Amino acid sequence: MKDFSFKLKLIDELSSGMFLSGEQLGEKFGVSRAAIARHIKAIQDLGIDVYSVKGKGYRLEQPLDLLDQQALQHRLSSPIEVISVIDSTNQRMLGQADLQSGSVCVAEYQTQGRGRRGREWVSPFGSNIYYSMYWRLEAGLPAAMGISLVIGLALVDALEQLGIDGLKLKWPNDVYHNNKKLAGILVELSGQAGDAANLVIGIGLNVSMPEHVQGIDQPWTSLKEISTTQPIARNDIVVTMTETLRNAISIYEQKGLKPFLSQWNRYDNFLDQPIKLLMGNRQVIGVCKGINEQGALLLDTGTDIESFIGGEISVRSAS
Ligand code: BTN
Repeated sequence: MKDFSFKLKLIDELSSGMFLSGEQLGEKFGVSRAAIARHIKAIQDLGIDVYSVKGKGYRLEQPLDLLDQQALQHRLSSPIEVISVIDSTNQRMLGQADLQSGSVCVAEYQTQGRGRRGREWVSPFGSNIYYSMYWRLEAGLPAAMGISLVIGLALVDALEQLGIDGLKLKWPNDVYHNNKKLAGILVELSGQAGDAANLVIGIGLNVSMPEHVQGIDQPWTSLKEISTTQPIARNDIVVTMTETLRNAISIYEQKGLKPFLSQWNRYDNFLDQPIKLLMGNRQVIGVCKGINEQGALLLDTGTDIESFIGGEISVRSAS
């Protein structure tokens, strides 16, 4: 991975929100003004909005609300690792041995954030939440489908606790607001049939997406756009998410999906609406009838209620 250390120092220096001239920054770090200008361009490429005003210098468009390892660890009972720059928080956890269930990894920036179906997850610096939690699921791989729905519900629950309303879920676990995507979940697992499954639960939550972000191929929103209150501190979001997720997973481990079914129906973006499912080259149209106790999507196709499960199904409104 590229060396980001100088850029991180520069970001830290600018994070106060004051104007700093190229000359001041150059002196501080022992480099030329031209080198500072190059690095400023590079941190803009990380997704940070930096103003440049002639005669005054550089300033962040808005102060950064950075994640704080020490404060987070103090508030959480399971281990948390805060990383500035990483390829992918999911990848980081998949490569670690001896993790304890409930351990969390969060990053300010991902160079190779990944989404479902092989897509990229665009991860600008310091603005959103890139979060992974490890969990050892004793019930093994068959229980993993259900858990990914539970995670979506737990995320909605956590955001409601933080004062966000009007959230919806799109099967299996995309979080929407006004038909725009607010958060996505990618559960990656390893394990053998008959054994416990090792899950890495990855969540990307848009908090304060920079206005000019590029590379997202679907309508998106972020908490900044939908929150009616003061901005919510990213550290608070991480704490509430972690507690709510752990709690929901424990309930799922004891009781399965049953206690979550009515909650799912409440948040289902498409309940009783015509949808189409895309499975590779196949397409099925029907009316969405929620989910069953295995987490499969139920569709009234006119002749029958059919259930659909699996990682490659894409849900679209048919209207
Ligand atoms: C989706 O496509 O909707 C799922 C997106 C999941 C993104 C998160 S960000 C943190 C974690 N690390 C990754 O590389 N991906 C997940």
